[in-house]
This record gives sequence, C-alpha cells and structure tokens, in this order.
Amino acid sequence: MKIILFGAAGLLGSAISRAASGDHEIIAFTHADLDICDSAAIDDAIRSNAPHAVINCAAYTAVDAAETDLEMAHSTNAEAPGKISEICAQSGCTFVHISTDYVFGGTAERPYPANASADPINAYGRTKRDGEVAALAHGNPLIVRSSWLYGAEHGNFLTRMLELMREQDELKVVDDQFGVPTHANSLANAILILIGETAQGIHHFTDSGKTSWFGFASAIETKARKMGLIGGCKITPIATRDYPTAAARPLYSVLDCSPTWAITGTPKAWETELDSALKIWETKQ
Ligand SMILES: NC(=O)c1ccc[n+]([C@@H]2O[C@H](COP(=O)([O-])OP(=O)(O)OC[C@H]3O[C@@H](n4cnc5c(N)ncnc54)[C@H](OP(=O)(O)O)[C@@H]3O)[C@@H](O)[C@H]2O)c1
Repeated sequence: MKIILFGAAGLLGSAISRAASGDHEIIAFTHADLDICDSAAIDDAIRSNAPHAVINCAAYTAVDAAETDLEMAHSTNAEAPGKISEICAQSGCTFVHISTDYVFGGTAERPYPANASADPINAYGRTKRDGEVAALAHGNPLIVRSSWLYGAEHGNFLTRMLELMREQDELKVVDDQFGVPTHANSLANAILILIGETAQGIHHFTDSGKTSWFGFASAIETKARKMGLIGGCKITPIATRDYPTAAARPLYSVLDCSPTWAITGTPKAWETELDSALKIWETKQ
C-alpha cells in the first residue's frame, strides 16, 4: 500500500515508518516538511501522491502547555484532522487518525469501550475529542485511541525515567492514576493490520494489563537494574495531589480493546513489551 504519514518524526510516526518499511510505500512528512494546519499543503500532498491511506500522527502533545496555548493546540488537534479527513474523503483514500485515552475523564471503574461518552478534563483532551468529531464528519475514517505511549527512541516516559534514574537516588511517582503503558511499536503494528482489514470508526488499542505510573516506573527500575543499565534508584509512590500539574489527569483511563484485539490479535502484556523496549534502548547506548 502507498501510505502518507504526517508527524513522521514523532514517537508513533517513526515507529510506523519502521514497521511499514519493506511491506508498504511510506511517504513520510515530518513537521519540518509539512504543517498539518496548512490546508493547501495537505491538499497538494494527498492529491499529488494519490495514496491508499493517510495516517495522521502529527499532534500537539504537550498536555500541560495546551492549557494556555489553546489556539495552537486546537488548530493542530481539532481543526487539522477535520480538514485532512475532508480531503481524504474527496480523494477516496482512507484517513487514519490517532487519538487518546485523555478524551475520558477517568471516573469509570471498568475499561472504557469505544462508544463511551467522551468527557475530557483538560484542554489537550478536549482538542483531541474535537479532532475525533471533526474527522468523523467526513467519509469513514479509522480513529485509533491508545494510551501511555513509550519507546526506546524518543523523549517519553521510559527514556525520561531512565535518564532520571541514572542521575538521582530517589524518584517520587504518582500511584493513583491507572492506565496501560503501550509500546509505540505494538501500536504501529496494530494500525497497519487495521488498515489492511479496512477497519473504520473508533478503535481502542493498548498493550495488555494495567498499572499506575508508579507501577510502570518501578518495573522500569527493576528491569533496567537487572540488565545493568542503571544503578539502584528508590521509587516512592505519591498521590496526584502531591504532584500538581497545569492540566488535570484522568485517574483511570484503561481502554476496552477487545473488539480491536479480535482483529489485531491480543497484544503482549505491557511488562513484556517493556522488556523489548529496554533491549532496543540498550543497543542505542
Ligand atoms: N504519547 C502518548 O502517551 C500518547 C497517548 C495516546 C495517544 N497519543 C496520540 O498519538 C499520536 C502520536 O503521538 P506521539 O506520542 O507520537 O507524539 P510526539 O512524539 O509528540 O509526535 C507528534 C509529532 O507531531 C509533530 N507536529 C506537531 N504539530 C505539528 C503540525 N502542526 N504539523 C505537522 N507536524 C506536527 C511534532 O513535531 P514537533 O515536535 O517538531 O513539533 C511531532 O513530531 C498523537 O495523536 C497523540 O495524541 C499519544
């Protein structure tokens, strides 16, 4: 398949580029190549390349900064996906848009199904929800929501934790927000399967299991120490109220992925994917 990829230099975009290489023709646009808020550039890229699918991994992902940088967050996360979706529908190609567990408010006690009402509690989540609505207004796009993405290659929770664990003896990490860490590589593979199966509408995909940020950080510390990547670092659990941030975070954002896993296959446990990411990180040191 010929696939246009927007946001190709980001965490997920680069994972998709790697996962697709060999099997698909990827036409990759980084932020430097193309601004997704530039409708004319989007139109030209899609019409001149006539792809089978367009995957939008470009997004304003600075969750706390979005609280005050509302205009930029809204044009990137809400308006641009609507415009890309419209152009894809006119061109007859599949639009694949990536969204987030942060469209949910976090008051649920069981995993959120894809048809649960979105009730975001921060500006980033509201712009991402608005982007879903805008994309769904044209044709039959595929929207894939995921959560807590990490990988060995980019600045993300895993790489930041490893850097801090090398510098500090103790880290305090929030233990009352629950979700599912998801390796960008497993989400990338799942997205390519979903496109191949012509999936449409909203899908949830994460790795298997659930934990808190403290649980995730503790697993990183234990595994990285056993691999000899770091010395010891004490991980201390704290409450969200003791770690104030500009944007509120959902306390529970586990996604019910079962209908999607019926298509993609059930992914590995997040702990197993963390092992894979740490091995990749090790090769880069
Ligand atoms: N990270 C997570 O935990 C997570 C969880 C669930 C869902 N998601 C979703 O997954 C998708 C991919 O996220 P990610 O983690 O890969 O984020 P990322 O690493 O921050 O990548 C986003 C990319 O988009 C680019 N970008 C920003 N504004 C742009 C614009 N106007 N035009 C073109 N490119 C632009 C960024 O470039 P610059 O850096 O140069 O600005 C960056 O390369 C997003 O839709 C995000 O909402 C992420």
